[in-house]
Amino acid sequence: ASAASAALLDLARDIAVRAAEFALEARRAGVSVAATKSTPTDIVTAVDRDTETLIRSLILEARPDDGIVGEEDATHIGTSGLDWVVDPIDGTVNFLYDIPAWSVSIAVVEGAGGGAIGGTTIAGVVVNPVTGELFEATAGGGARLAGRDLAVNDAVPLSAALVGTGFGYAAEHRREQAAVLLGLLPRIRDIRRAGSAALDLCAVAAGRIDAYYERGLNAWDYSAGALIAREAGARLGGPRGGHENSELLVAAAPGLYEELARALREAGVDA
Ligand code: IPD
Repeated sequence: ASAASAALLDLARDIAVRAAEFALEARRAGVSVAATKSTPTDIVTAVDRDTETLIRSLILEARPDDGIVGEEDATHIGTSGLDWVVDPIDGTVNFLYDIPAWSVSIAVVEGAGGGAIGGTTIAGVVVNPVTGELFEATAGGGARLAGRDLAVNDAVPLSAALVGTGFGYAAEHRREQAAVLLGLLPRIRDIRRAGSAALDLCAVAAGRIDAYYERGLNAWDYSAGALIAREAGARLGGPRGGHENSELLVAAAPGLYEELARALREAGVDA
């Protein structure tokens, strides 16, 4: 990893930790749904918005020329060629119910031209504020949890694979598609739906699940986690290969990827 990406990681970590403290404090004071977004299941709380506001101000204070793409507010176009891709609370439903599996996710992307897609993620941090676990990676510099290097599990046959997934909230048809893909279940060890895509990708990196797939993610859900999983040795892409910004993201040990991708195609990725 270059010195520049190490410095960006340091800043991303500092900001993520401060945002995590802020959101955790706000959680203790109580949380309710502020609004629904694209569908009745797609919720946001005031804490999501306030945490993103805090993250944005900390980024701009340190790096006024960078862009910011976040879940809860309009894209801020920068001039430096670097964009920060931010999910202030990934796993808002868990946050609402006080299930300790939500995260602050921050990635730094180079060359995406004021967006989040098509560039190279050079640094990423995912923090679980409740457990205090902090996952991080730089491009080419490996992935770590609490100073320990992360590595994906060795490939297992699909029938022995514990597979994480998520069910997007952002459109009614996403729920139907997610239900179709659960046709995979009889072919694998089991499914986990933990409720935060960023933490799911970190779970692949840490070998807590063997693989993960989800349809319809946004860049703020996956950018940091995808770098962490890739740096831990995962292969990421779509059900027919390609890049991580595929409409259906698949992450798995290289030796498991093809078998999982084939099973997802057979379950019905074209539905
Ligand atoms: C959601 C979570 C969830 C995933 C959804 C995402 P949010 O993010 O990551 O696990 O299944 O697709 O939208 O809305 O809680 O930030």
